[in-house]
Amino acid sequence: MSGSLVGKGLESSSTYAKVRMAAYHRLRNAWYELTANFPEPVRGSLRKATTTPLGYLASLTFRRRELVPPIRFRVRAGLGNWTKVGKEFADIFVKFGGLQPADRVLDVGCGFGRVATALVNYLNPRGSYEGFDVFPEAVEWCRARVTPLHPNFRFRLVDVHNGVYNPNGSVDPAHFAFPYSDGSFDFVHLTSVFTHMLPPGVENYLREISRVLRTGGKCAISCYLINEESVNLMNSGKSEPSFPSDHVRYRLQDRLHPERAVAYDVAFLRDRYVRNGFKIIEPILWGYWCGRDHFLSLQDIIIAEKG
Ligand SMILES: C[S@@+](CC[C@H](N)C(=O)[O-])C[C@H]1O[C@@H](n2cnc3c(N)ncnc32)[C@H](O)[C@@H]1O
Repeated sequence: MSGSLVGKGLESSSTYAKVRMAAYHRLRNAWYELTANFPEPVRGSLRKATTTPLGYLASLTFRRRELVPPIRFRVRAGLGNWTKVGKEFADIFVKFGGLQPADRVLDVGCGFGRVATALVNYLNPRGSYEGFDVFPEAVEWCRARVTPLHPNFRFRLVDVHNGVYNPNGSVDPAHFAFPYSDGSFDFVHLTSVFTHMLPPGVENYLREISRVLRTGGKCAISCYLINEESVNLMNSGKSEPSFPSDHVRYRLQDRLHPERAVAYDVAFLRDRYVRNGFKIIEPILWGYWCGRDHFLSLQDIIIAEKG
C-alpha cells in the first residue's frame, strides 16, 4: 500500500475536486463579501445559519462504513465530509511531510480518529499509530472500532483540561507530560488542536512534541495563523472565524469561551518552534479559512523537522 494515498487524494482526484472546490470558494467568498459589512454578531450568525446546514449536508453525503463514527461524533471534529478531510490530511502528511508506511506516528488530540482511519491502509505492520485525546467518547470509539481491526493503532485517554472538550479535566495542559519516552516517534501531528488551546498549553505541547520525536522526525500542525494577510482579510470581513478579540500573540473568536477558537501570531509560533529545536519546512501551507484565494486546505499547516 506504500504511497497509495498520494495520487488517489489531492492529486489524482484533482480535476473534479478542484472544480468543486473552486465553485465552493466562489460561493463562499461571494456570500462572505455580501455579509462583510454587517456588524458582529449579526455577521457571524448569518454565516452560521447558512454554512452550518451546508456542512451537515456535506457530512451526510457518504455511506456509513465500519470506520466512520456516527454524525453526532463526526461534527465534533468539524463540519464537512469527515472521510475526505481525514484523507486530505493524510495525503498532505505523505506528500509534504514525508510520512512513511513504517513510521511510528503520534496523533495528539486524535478525536474520533479522522486521520487514523485514513492511515489504516497506509501504515504497514512495522509502522505504528498512537493517539491520545482528552475527550472520553472519542477515545472509547477509537479503541472499540479501530484497534480491534488494526492492533498497531492504539488510543489513550488523558485527563487534561480543555474548556470545550474536557472542562473538568484535572491536569493543566501547560504541565502535561506526554505518556511516551524520548525520541519514540518519527512523525507527530495535530489536526485542529492548537485551534482549541491557549498559549501556555501550546508552548508546553511544542516542548513535549520535540521531546518525543526522534532527531530528524517531522511534525505537522494545522492551526489558524495571524499574519499581515490574514489580518487584512479579517479586517475586510472575509474571514470566518474572524477572531475579534486581540491578545497580541494570539486572538480569540469568543473572549468568554477562549478555547472555542484560537489563532496564533505566526512570529510567536516560529520563535517557539526554533526554541524547541525545530526547523520549519518552508513555505507554511496557508489555508483558506480567512478568505485567501491561494491555499492548500482549510487551516494553515506548519510542517517542521526536529534538528
Ligand atoms: C476539532 S477536534 C479535532 C480532532 C481530530 N484531531 C481531528 O482532526 O478529527 C479538537 C480535538 O482536540 C482535542 N483536545 C483539546 N485539547 C487537547 C489537549 N490539551 N490535549 C489533547 N487533545 C486535546 C479535543 O478533545 C478534540 O478531540
